[in-house]
Amino acid sequence: MKEGKTFEDVLRRSDETYRVLFEKNPYPLWMYDAETLHILAMNAAAMRKYGYAPDEIPRLTFADLYVPEDVPNLLQHASSPHPELVHAGVWRHRQKNGTIIDAEIFSQEILVDGTRARLVLAIDVTERRRAEEALRRSEYLYRTVASNIPSGAVALFDRELRYIVADGAGVLDAAGVPKEAAAGKTIREGLPAETWALLEPLCRAALDGRPASAEVPSRGRTYFVYTLPVPGEVGGISMGMVMAIDITARKGVEDEVRRMNEDLERRVAERTAQLEVAYRHLQALSAHLQSVREQEQARIAQEIHDELGQALTGLKFELSRLAQQLRGLPGGVSEKATALGTVVDETLHDVRRISSELRPAILDDLGLVAALEWHAEEFEKRTGIACTIKAPRQPFEVGPDLRIALFRTCQEALTNVARHARATAARIVLARTRDNVVLEVRDDGAGIPQAALTNVKSLGLLGMRERARAFGGEVAIQSAPGEGTLVRVKIPRRQ
Ligand SMILES: Nc1ncnc2c1ncn2[C@@H]1O[C@H](COP(=O)(O)OP(=O)(O)OP(=O)(O)O)[C@@H](O)[C@H]1O
Ligand SMILES: [Mg+2]
Repeated sequence: MKEGKTFEDVLRRSDETYRVLFEKNPYPLWMYDAETLHILAMNAAAMRKYGYAPDEIPRLTFADLYVPEDVPNLLQHASSPHPELVHAGVWRHRQKNGTIIDAEIFSQEILVDGTRARLVLAIDVTERRRAEEALRRSEYLYRTVASNIPSGAVALFDRELRYIVADGAGVLDAAGVPKEAAAGKTIREGLPAETWALLEPLCRAALDGRPASAEVPSRGRTYFVYTLPVPGEVGGISMGMVMAIDITARKGVEDEVRRMNEDLERRVAERTAQLEVAYRHLQALSAHLQSVREQEQARIAQEIHDELGQALTGLKFELSRLAQQLRGLPGGVSEKATALGTVVDETLHDVRRISSELRPAILDDLGLVAALEWHAEEFEKRTGIACTIKAPRQPFEVGPDLRIALFRTCQEALTNVARHARATAARIVLARTRDNVVLEVRDDGAGIPQAALTNVKSLGLLGMRERARAFGGEVAIQSAPGEGTLVRVKIPRRQ
């Protein structure tokens, strides 16, 4: 009896123990009827977690805790016998306020007053699952990024310069180890010494907190390597990240483009040199033709002047004698002879003018200043445009070629004034500076249109420039609409 009492005692105490275990358990616990799913008991943690009050329990079935679409599964689970404690997996549970949580379920078949019932324990794993999901997602993203690095690798390394993880399509090529075997190996192991010599400073920079990058050649390929520090959770740099992208193909293209550029530049230089030579030849040819033409003109001028001039002078003399002899005869023959003499006189005048225009003898006889003065006078007479000249008093001697070149330039400039400028006055200035001979022809006319200055058909202007260039000089033209024109020729004095 004593034993029996003790046994009952134990039994009561054990009931008590189990009741406390059920009631005070921090995890939600239920007992429900396996047939009807009616909840027979529900601990405080379950009521707290699911938001029900004790007086609602009698009306509650276990199915009320599930989302409707899972109830058929629940019924199946409840009806199958489970003598042992089973881990029933993770289910979606519904709190009273409608919030869905993920509950990991353990259940055990029991008998309560002869009724088949279930004892169920639930652990809320919503947060854990969310964290797992986030981790899976970030893992997935990382894998996607890493495995899509087209021909390179990305890796994390620790402060001992050992791989923590390496990934990417080109790990074996870039790192010299397969990605599965990289973890724990030092970066140095897989690399040629000269590659490591370039890479090590980049890795160390990352561990010192500085991102770094460089082009690193390795085993016949070229990588663009980028390293960056990875801060630890408690501050400081716990590891570094290294990315290596294979840029061999791009480098190849770059090299090819550079080679082509160099080749092109060389050919352009060759062509330019050829053109320069051709231009110098043309210049020489043009100068030669110019001087041939000048000589020819001088010869013709001389002949016209001498031969034609003398013949006409003789004719004029004969005609005036004839007129005298015929004086008094009827028919006015003497007057006719005098009139013919006047025609011959005019012709002689024309012949002299033509001869002078071909080659002013004054240029060779009296020099450039006298020739320009004479030309200015002629110009004024012929055109009615006032033409003044300023030139040094003392003898102004330049070589015969430059003399004729300057004279022709002045002639062309004045012809342009007469033909295009609609000017009232022109002025010629001839001067000598320390280094240059300068000739200026200025007018107060309409100015040269901008287009005419650059027009390749402006052969008069081009001719002036060519003449100047043949003496190492240049022509500057200043002109504005309505403000006249200044043509300025500058020739270095060394000739
Ligand atoms: N002093 C000037 N005032 C105004 N326009 C001028 C003057 N000089 C030249 N021009 C303009 O510049 C153009 C080019 O002159 P350029 O001497 O080269 O050719 P051109 O006189 O027309 O022909 P040519 O070959 O017979 O000399 C002229 O057609 C004219 O429009
Ligand atoms: Mg002209």
